[in-house]
Amino acid sequence: MRFLVTAGPTREPIDPVRYISNRSSGKMGYAIAEAALEAGHDVVLISGLVNLQPLRGAKLVSVSTSDEMFNAVHQHAGGCDVCVLCAAVADYKPATLSPLKIKKRDEEFSLELIPTRDILASLGGWRDRRFLLVGFAAETHDLQENAVKKLRAKNCDIMVANDARVGMESDENELLVLFRGGEIKKIPRAPKKILARELIKIFSKFDTKMFDKKNVTISERN
Ligand code: CTP
Repeated sequence: MRFLVTAGPTREPIDPVRYISNRSSGKMGYAIAEAALEAGHDVVLISGLVNLQPLRGAKLVSVSTSDEMFNAVHQHAGGCDVCVLCAAVADYKPATLSPLKIKKRDEEFSLELIPTRDILASLGGWRDRRFLLVGFAAETHDLQENAVKKLRAKNCDIMVANDARVGMESDENELLVLFRGGEIKKIPRAPKKILARELIKIFSKFDTKMFDKKNVTISERN
């Protein structure tokens, strides 16, 4: 199968020396890409800037901003069977990019932010989508409830939910895997590499031929 995996944070520039970003390490996305390669799949890894070793065998597309990630995902998704959007995409970006360094002044300063495009939701809205669409939900509260809302709002097939306070920057995580059909699977706390192998087993069970059938209910095949 052909996998597309996004990983890491995006950077939204403010001026030539500053940007808005987040604490995502990219470890979960890289672990998923690595587990997919280990299982014999082809992988396109679309990665924000991270401090991780490049993965041998994956086609790496390096991006920085949410717009660059949006374009790269849209360029490659059509050729894939499974798209796993694990990246921590910034929700907002500065309304304008200052070409010159913004100088310090002695008064309050506010920055106008505008929403970025939601990459996962944009794929969920594709007509005649022929790939399994997997999102990741990072939450600090009401994990299951918020993740179910995101699964529905972004029209994905699987939402993998985690507590951002456990997983962020860490080598370990615990996951709740929510399926479009309503099933829920808990994967207890483990190193991200082990979790990634479990996820690849789950994703590989889906037969993308199911997209040929109309009104298909996405659930796990046993
Ligand atoms: N996502 C995306 N594009 C964005 C924001 C998020 O593709 N502009 C994707 C992420 O890659 C992830 C999923 O949406 O697969 C959920 O991201 P998350 O940060 O948990 O949620 P948000 O939709 O950003 O909502 P909130 O920040 O309010 O929790």
